[in-house]
Amino acid sequence: MCGTSTSKQYDDTEPAQAPMSRHMGIDRPAPGSGIKVNFQDSKGNLLKTVEANEGDDILAIAHEYDIDLEGACEGSVACSTCHVILPPEYYDLLPEPEDDENDMLDMAFGLTDTSRLGCQVKLTKEMDGMDVRLPAATRNMFVDGKKASH
Ligand code: FES
Repeated sequence: MCGTSTSKQYDDTEPAQAPMSRHMGIDRPAPGSGIKVNFQDSKGNLLKTVEANEGDDILAIAHEYDIDLEGACEGSVACSTCHVILPPEYYDLLPEPEDDENDMLDMAFGLTDTSRLGCQVKLTKEMDGMDVRLPAATRNMFVDGKKASH
């Protein structure tokens, strides 16, 4: 018997009274118990399959697992650097994007019919096994401001 009845076990060494100190941190589910998300590069090659919990958003999941999805405005719908492309069957499970998300998506590089802002996509159980494709590039007008043109 190995006694692994751990309901609360953190491998971080943070003090217990600082639950908000992790930047957009999420809790990883126990292996095999979470909702699986397959992150892919822009060509559809698998980067990593990860597990997350219902309600976690794609940006936070990407950050938790070191996937290269920027999220310059940290989820305040003021950039398009968290742009992801979803398979149509999963895209259709989501509520329609709000106007502010659509405005930002309009400026996203490589926009598709099934593009969303990762910070606005909250995981549900129905999304188990979803592929999330990263675009070939992102356009960061939140940090870069206007780009010099010539
Ligand atoms: S992180 Fe900026 S809109 Fe999602």
